[in-house]
Amino acid sequence: MERGDALPAVLSPIPAATGKAWVERLAASECPALTTRRRRREEQTGASHDPIVWVDAQGANVIDADGNRYVDLTSGFGVAFVGHGHPEVVAAVKRQADRLLHALGDLHPSDVKIELLERLCALAPWPQARAMLSLSGADAVTAALKTAVMATGKTGVVAFEGSYHGLTYGPLAVSGYADRFREPFRAQLQSDVHFAAWPGREVSVDAALGTLPQDWSGIGAVIVEPIQGRAGVRVPPSGFLEALKRTCEKNEALLIVDEIFTGVGRCGAWWRSVDEGTTPDVICVGKALAGGLPVSACIASEDVMRAWGAPDREAIHTGTFYGDPLGSAAALATIDLIEREQLARKAAERGDRFAAALRAEGLSGVSEVRHAGMLLGLQLEAPSQALTVTRALLERGYLVLPAGTKADVLQLAPPVTVSETQLEGFVASLRDVLERL
Ligand SMILES: Cc1ncc(COP(=O)(O)O)c(C=O)c1O
Repeated sequence: MERGDALPAVLSPIPAATGKAWVERLAASECPALTTRRRRREEQTGASHDPIVWVDAQGANVIDADGNRYVDLTSGFGVAFVGHGHPEVVAAVKRQADRLLHALGDLHPSDVKIELLERLCALAPWPQARAMLSLSGADAVTAALKTAVMATGKTGVVAFEGSYHGLTYGPLAVSGYADRFREPFRAQLQSDVHFAAWPGREVSVDAALGTLPQDWSGIGAVIVEPIQGRAGVRVPPSGFLEALKRTCEKNEALLIVDEIFTGVGRCGAWWRSVDEGTTPDVICVGKALAGGLPVSACIASEDVMRAWGAPDREAIHTGTFYGDPLGSAAALATIDLIEREQLARKAAERGDRFAAALRAEGLSGVSEVRHAGMLLGLQLEAPSQALTVTRALLERGYLVLPAGTKADVLQLAPPVTVSETQLEGFVASLRDVLERL
């Protein structure tokens, strides 16, 4: 089947026989919470929420177990910025797999791990930088939170309502996205976290800054996404990050910017925060960094990172697979690709055109189109509507995620390589779905 920049080809119902058989095996083996979530969504929307089962993906196309072809406007949670299975990334992984699968991490590292560290330091916004590699976004956030403690000696953290930084314990404690995520674990979570308001349409920057703590004596870090992704692509007014940076400087706290979704070109620049005029103290990166393999990093200036290196201290933060050779080779190939083909600039241009086209449609039920580069959020008028709309789009062959704490935002994060025809096809399908609501 043709795949890469092809339009969808979906036969209903989805999933069909083969897909259904996989879904039954899934329901008998996955964590029951996930099956229950699908059932709950079915009750909420009156439509099936059985997943499609991916068996192949190239460029912006995904093929499911029934042989249907989709256009993926999620990039698989923002990972496939350069497209799924990019030939250069795949070739780098294959070459690496023939040579060295695993090394001795931070004790006796691989050559490619060192190369990746150098590349990340060179991409950082400080003249001298140091990086710590890891696997998931949550790993990178954990390393950043620990770095702030080491550098400031203070354990308190300021985070924001709606923020999403991952679900392992450190990141969960600073994720304001939903109380229900934290509630069962509250007794095991760091309690010294202050959630401030997020600025936007209804809350001015000054009003948001007014909700920061009065007493900073125990606060060592402010952690912030340059754009809140999972909360519904909530773009703060310009100047907000810079105001946070000044507040941090005044109070001897570090500004940790979580660029896990926004970084690596997705929002039209290598780092969204730097593009907005702010140099953070610590940057977290993940998702798209290795073109599909799990690689993340916490990067900071040498001055900040030196806090880990006191002569009387051990290497107290590491992981068996951190900086693994396959992931490092994939990340190096992905970085090469993004730089050589100027994909950040392309994301800026394509994102502006796509957002303008969506706005020009005057889509019924869409009250706002927010975007930065190839990260877009379509604000719907009714709560939970994103669940119905994303399912109807899936049936027409377009993968889109619901976002926002009220499931009232369509989140689009297409590969930067998605074709114009695919985007036009999506807009036509979306118009059709919204008119039938
Ligand atoms: C901004 C941000 N930070 C952190 C994470 C967590 O990354 P991971 O799921 O790889 O742990 C995510 C995931 O969606 C994210 O969007």
